[in-house]
Amino acid sequence: MLKKLLTPFQIGPLTLPNRVLMAPLTRSRASQPGDIPGPLNVEYYAQRASAGLIVSEATQISRQGQGYALTPGIYTDAQEAGWKNVVQAVHAKHGHIALQLWHVGRVSHSLLQENGGAPVAPSALIAKNTQCFVIQPDGKAENVATETPRALALEEMPGIVAQYRQAAVRGKRAGFDFLELHAANGYLLHQFLSTNTNQRTDAYGGSLENRARLTLEALDAVISVIGAGQVGVRLAPHFAGFDMADTEAEASALYLAKEFSERGVAYLHIAEPDWAGGPDLTEKFRAQLRAAFQGTLIFCGNYHAADADALVAQGTADAVAFGRLFIANPDLVERFRQDAELNTPDSTTFYGGGAHGYTDYPTLDLQSA
Ligand SMILES: Cc1cc2nc3c(=O)[nH]c(=O)nc-3n(C[C@H](O)[C@H](O)[C@H](O)COP(=O)(O)O)c2cc1C
Repeated sequence: MLKKLLTPFQIGPLTLPNRVLMAPLTRSRASQPGDIPGPLNVEYYAQRASAGLIVSEATQISRQGQGYALTPGIYTDAQEAGWKNVVQAVHAKHGHIALQLWHVGRVSHSLLQENGGAPVAPSALIAKNTQCFVIQPDGKAENVATETPRALALEEMPGIVAQYRQAAVRGKRAGFDFLELHAANGYLLHQFLSTNTNQRTDAYGGSLENRARLTLEALDAVISVIGAGQVGVRLAPHFAGFDMADTEAEASALYLAKEFSERGVAYLHIAEPDWAGGPDLTEKFRAQLRAAFQGTLIFCGNYHAADADALVAQGTADAVAFGRLFIANPDLVERFRQDAELNTPDSTTFYGGGAHGYTDYPTLDLQSA
């Protein structure tokens, strides 16, 4: 019997019906040309509207912020209109949805960049053993090694913050309930935070506070658009993919958690690293996060109903986000309610393709029909 997972709770101004959230999941199925959410994406998100809150797939805030072909953006009118259709479909089914704002930084390739330029990063350090996804000039789609980025000049930093602000304006206009700043998983903001990827000697590098500066500036820009009560942040302390190795991961997450709390940020979403090869988070660190942040605390990574329920019941988290289980189970909440069997996610259809492995996972009523 689940004790807390299926009970309503409050995030910012909204009461959500349950604590089973859908994690952000890149699925690489935006309409082309233009990386625009289309009817297939509308159907996919609407199918999952019974989640307490859906966090959208990571969505690039600019062309510069793109690291994979076929992911959606939020920097053109057509993309904004496409997202508006998604939001309306989720709202029509009484669901709630956040937009994850994404700049990949160095996890990119000149083929994805304006005029074939180099990707940008805090420092000109390549992400070793890391791939991105491109469409070659001859039309062939393939994974390729990321390229050496160029270090952003100090004068360019306000422009990066402006990309976040502009994306927030579009996200708000599209009707999203929350905007989630993606500061996790080895992308631009995380590259600034992490000791190994940020070798700058200016105001954005060196001390922990300096390394956190861009995240807080981007956050303040997003808050200025929609208000802190509708903003969340995703962090992934100890994430070890994409050549990330932060020696101050916990200190910087705790510093940020406190800063977020002071600003009244609605939620802090912790992507646990273990699913991607990192260590388990310690109980001590979880408790420290809880103490540092007064808003809604969400954990994500490898959870099932029982352990997620225990995490919430013991007060460590307010809600839990599920990734792969939501890919395969559009009605995950109902399945948890009935303690029903779950469909198994097929990893070969995670990224790219069409309806198969995307909108064709059956719900319980279809299975029993
Ligand atoms: C196919 C796939 C796509 C993902 N895309 C994103 C993403 O766009 N943004 C993000 O922050 N995390 C992303 N993640 C990480 C998930 O949000 C989540 O942290 C991870 O899958 C662990 O949760 P799970 O064990 O419930 O799947 C992705 C994971 C998978 C498997």
